[in-house]
Amino acid sequence: MKKHTPPIIYLDHSATTEPYPEVILRMGQILCDSYGNPSSTHSAGRDARIIVEESRREIAGIIGASPSEVFFTSGGTESDNTVLVGATMAGVRRIITSPIEHHAITATASHLSSMGVSVKYVHIKENGDIDLEHLCSILEMPSEGKTLVSLMHVQNEIGNIYDINAIGNLSHAYDAWFHTDAVQGMCHLNYDLKNSPVDFLSASAHKFYGPKGIGFLYVKSGIVLPSLLHGGEQERGMRSGTENVPAIAAMALALKMNNDERVEDRTHILELKGHLISRLKEIEGIRFNGRCSDWEHSIPSIVSVTLPIKKDPSMMLLSLDMKGICVSAGSACMAGAVKDSFVISTLYGDNNTMKGMPTLRISMGKWNVKEEIDITVDAIKSLL
Ligand SMILES: Cc1ncc(COP(=O)(O)O)c(C=O)c1O
Repeated sequence: MKKHTPPIIYLDHSATTEPYPEVILRMGQILCDSYGNPSSTHSAGRDARIIVEESRREIAGIIGASPSEVFFTSGGTESDNTVLVGATMAGVRRIITSPIEHHAITATASHLSSMGVSVKYVHIKENGDIDLEHLCSILEMPSEGKTLVSLMHVQNEIGNIYDINAIGNLSHAYDAWFHTDAVQGMCHLNYDLKNSPVDFLSASAHKFYGPKGIGFLYVKSGIVLPSLLHGGEQERGMRSGTENVPAIAAMALALKMNNDERVEDRTHILELKGHLISRLKEIEGIRFNGRCSDWEHSIPSIVSVTLPIKKDPSMMLLSLDMKGICVSAGSACMAGAVKDSFVISTLYGDNNTMKGMPTLRISMGKWNVKEEIDITVDAIKSLL
């Protein structure tokens, strides 16, 4: 099924994606026909339980996990919180993370730090890469208890891909657990967790053309995380609460479709990215942030640029919005607040020659077309 023509130019797919029309239909169909509670023992309950378990099997198969390693949550934020807080409850005394993680990690880590957990931040290089030597030096420092390393797979503002196998193996060499926030990676990258050093992985359906408010957490077999939610003992006691059956089924379908179409989508979005970058280069003095023009080390969808003009980023976004163009200044997850990007400040530190100049994150999706890129670049140029 083809996407309907949107009335706007939507270039904010890192904030969220438009659900597949098939996913919307599936969700409605299950709401209508399979409304039983999966914990009920009658036929309506059994019907819902089958949908939940088939969805779990589908997702597990796609990420190379076993179904018992997949737990449904309300999304990336809950998955991230569950790992950090749960691991602390299970005895972790030190968390190593980075200053450019999503707030679901950094805010949770700082909360745990106020409760006495040691939190260390690994250095980030100017191109957005993680300083692995620094990570190694932190891991070498003695810790009073077990360590959890939590580093994202794909950075949500600049699109850099990090080497989770190298980071996971390094973590294991120091007997630390390794968690990766794969919320931005799941849409674009292949996962095979069976033989990987990833102990925990977070994902969220609305980043891969699924519905909002549903996600999953992968927990490697053999590791037991204490539950944050107490009640009906759903999700094998790991996450109480009646399962969101329509959203779970919709997420499984979205991931399957996304997985089936990934190669084709990548080719299309990379073509758009090449065109976008070459058009943006017409702007003298523009800065590309992170590794967005490095096809191998960044996802295809994200381009982050700082514009050579002194202008309030919120005014810039508003002007583009009035032309029907949706982009963002950075992460969308600060409850609508437009602030200078903390990611960009971390990358450049005191060397930021473009401090106070607006940064735009343009993130493309499978239904964007070249004409939309041209209209967007022309609109940006008209504001300079
Ligand atoms: C890297 C990353 N982690 C976590 C989240 C939060 O996910 P959710 O919106 O499903 O809570 C986001 C959302 O933008 C994200 O980009």
